[in-house]
Amino acid sequence: MKITIIGTGFVGVVSAAVYASFGNEVVGLDIDQEKINSLRSSKVPFFEPGLEDLLTTTQQQGKLTFTTSYEDAITNSDVIFIAVGTPSSADGNADLKYVFMSCESLAPYLKENAIVVVKSTVPPGTLKLVEEIINKTAKVKYFTASVPEFLKEGTAVYDTLNPDRIVIGVRDDNSFKILESLHQPFNTTIIKVSPESAQMAKYSANAYLATRITFINQIADLCEKNGADIDEVVKAIGVDKRIGKHYWYPGFGYGGSCFPKDVKELAHYSRQVGEDGNLFNKITEINENRISKLLENYSKKIGGFEGKTVAVLGLSFKPNTDDMREAPSVKVIPYLANLGATVKGYDPKALEVVKHFIQADDKVTYYDSINEAAAGADIIISLIEWAEIVNFDFSSVRDGSKEQWFIDARNQFSPEKIEGWGYKYMGVGK
Ligand SMILES: NC(=O)c1ccc[n+]([C@@H]2O[C@H](COP(=O)([O-])OP(=O)(O)OC[C@H]3O[C@@H](n4cnc5c(N)ncnc54)[C@H](O)[C@@H]3O)[C@@H](O)[C@H]2O)c1
Repeated sequence: MKITIIGTGFVGVVSAAVYASFGNEVVGLDIDQEKINSLRSSKVPFFEPGLEDLLTTTQQQGKLTFTTSYEDAITNSDVIFIAVGTPSSADGNADLKYVFMSCESLAPYLKENAIVVVKSTVPPGTLKLVEEIINKTAKVKYFTASVPEFLKEGTAVYDTLNPDRIVIGVRDDNSFKILESLHQPFNTTIIKVSPESAQMAKYSANAYLATRITFINQIADLCEKNGADIDEVVKAIGVDKRIGKHYWYPGFGYGGSCFPKDVKELAHYSRQVGEDGNLFNKITEINENRISKLLENYSKKIGGFEGKTVAVLGLSFKPNTDDMREAPSVKVIPYLANLGATVKGYDPKALEVVKHFIQADDKVTYYDSINEAAAGADIIISLIEWAEIVNFDFSSVRDGSKEQWFIDARNQFSPEKIEGWGYKYMGVGK
């Protein structure tokens, strides 16, 4: 099948490579010429395991090409995926301008019976707006569909090759058949729904996971009041099959490019349809206050951060990515620096990207290794559970001449081990 993916950002480039790996003829289209140039040499402007190899193979096989020309990309395409960004404004309104711009640009070149599929995360009702724009200039009959993306950064290539499900939101059977056959090689459950259900499914999945994180964080806060241990609580509730053992992450709250944005957008949509007081309107506030609340608590225990040297380890929003969008470090580092601490940051992959978010200055320095960042620190914060950090032997950077604290922000370490190395341990919900 001939496919075009509009928007070769995170989702677009991974999808393009994966569809090409299944033998489709794929064109990746972006307005960013520099990005297209580097993608032609299989270079991606972010870290994602396995992606560059897949780009190299599929381009060498002639299955994947990149362009900035709408005419070249759209004219022969059977299926066009829109995977451009949908950032939200401060009040959570999903900004659809990139989606609409791409519709304007693609409309004149559509071939008869092409299917325009919105993969970007968009509010219910967006397909109608998309059709209104395309109808202004399209010369042919075409179809629309909504196929949301569920991949996770850090495991995006694996997730896209092995999705838990493909949700196809369509209004006509023919588009469903074509999209079903395109996704057959993924060998997974294909769910046919309406476009609105597909869009709601995407928001619901992310809002549910964000709620789960928020829920366990609130239980963790209660554990700290009464001597319970959140990890023991998780163990005890997880055996209940209705609840499950997986996806419990007590810590500093959720971040990344999707959960905060999607929860805000769902809350905004709720308000638009008169559901002002619902759960989704509360979660963001709880999550956004979490980091300062935890740091305040730690500060009381350690006698304040002022004048202390703090090593912050793990700067990306989660392991195996250099994506810093809404990463806890983006709040933690300025918070500590404002209180008069000296911050020493380290991350296995995000050391370049971090400088676009928090510049180094007299209070904040970035280091190339855990050793350098942790040396001489009064407090070590293991913020994100990169394997390199979790497996590090912190006894090697223990300064026996002074008291040192270890903050285990994702409960990845055994308190006994850390205390055995001579640190004072603090986790979350313990
Ligand atoms: N990043 C994720 O993990 C993830 C996961 C699931 C869903 N999503 C959703 O997928 C969508 C894309 O997210 P992303 O993280 O890949 O975004 P991104 O910001 O990384 O990439 C967007 C790309 O679109 C390009 N673009 C913008 N306007 C264009 C136009 N008119 N024509 C062609 N290209 C254009 C930009 O140059 C950029 O390369 C969003 O709706 C997001 O919510 C993201």
